[in-house]
Amino acid sequence: MTDIAPLRDFIRDMTQLAEQDASEARWLTEGAALLRRLIATDTWLPEDCAVAGPRYRQYLLHCDPLERFCVVSFVWGPGQKTPVHNHTVWGLVGMLRGAEISTEMRPGAPMTPGQVDHLKEGEVVAVSADTYDIHVVENALADRASISIHVYGGNIGAIARAVFDPATGATKRFISGYDNVAVPNLWDRSKEMAAA
Ligand SMILES: [Fe+2]
Repeated sequence: MTDIAPLRDFIRDMTQLAEQDASEARWLTEGAALLRRLIATDTWLPEDCAVAGPRYRQYLLHCDPLERFCVVSFVWGPGQKTPVHNHTVWGLVGMLRGAEISTEMRPGAPMTPGQVDHLKEGEVVAVSADTYDIHVVENALADRASISIHVYGGNIGAIARAVFDPATGATKRFISGYDNVAVPNLWDRSKEMAAA
C-alpha cells in the first residue's frame, strides 16, 4: 500500500510556485529542489502508475487546473526509447527507479547528438529552450523497467509538439496524450485522521 502524502505535498508546493507566477528560472531551481525531495523516497507512487507496457508509458499524476504545470510518471520497459521529440515548455526529469539516458539532438540533416545526460536514481535534469528542447530518451537498463517523474510547464499531453526524423530533420505534429484515464486520489486522509 502506498502513502501518497509526499506527492500531495509536492503538488501543493508546486502550486504555490505557480501562484507566485514563478519565472522559468525559479521553476528550474526551486521546482527542481522540490522534485529532488519527492524522488528521495519511493513509496508514494501508486502501483498502477508504475506498470510497463509494450512501449514506454506516461501516466498523468496531476495537472494543475489552470494547466500551469503537470506531473507525469514515465515508465520505461527494458530497451524502450522515445522518438526524437521537443517539448516547447520547460521540463524537469527526476529519476525515481533505475536509470535513463537523455541525448540532445541538434537540428540538421542528419540531426546530430549533443549533450548526453545519464540519470541515476535521485538525480534531476531540466529541459528548456535555454539548454536544449529536442532530445531522445531511453531506458539505460536492458533487464528491467526504469521510472522517472517529469514536471512540465503546461499540460504536456495536450500540447502540440513535434517528433523528428533523425535522418532528415523532418518534423511531424505530435500530441502525446496519457496512458491512464484516472489520476491518483490525493485526498483520502482517512488513515491519518483515524490515527489522530
Ligand atoms: Fe522529453
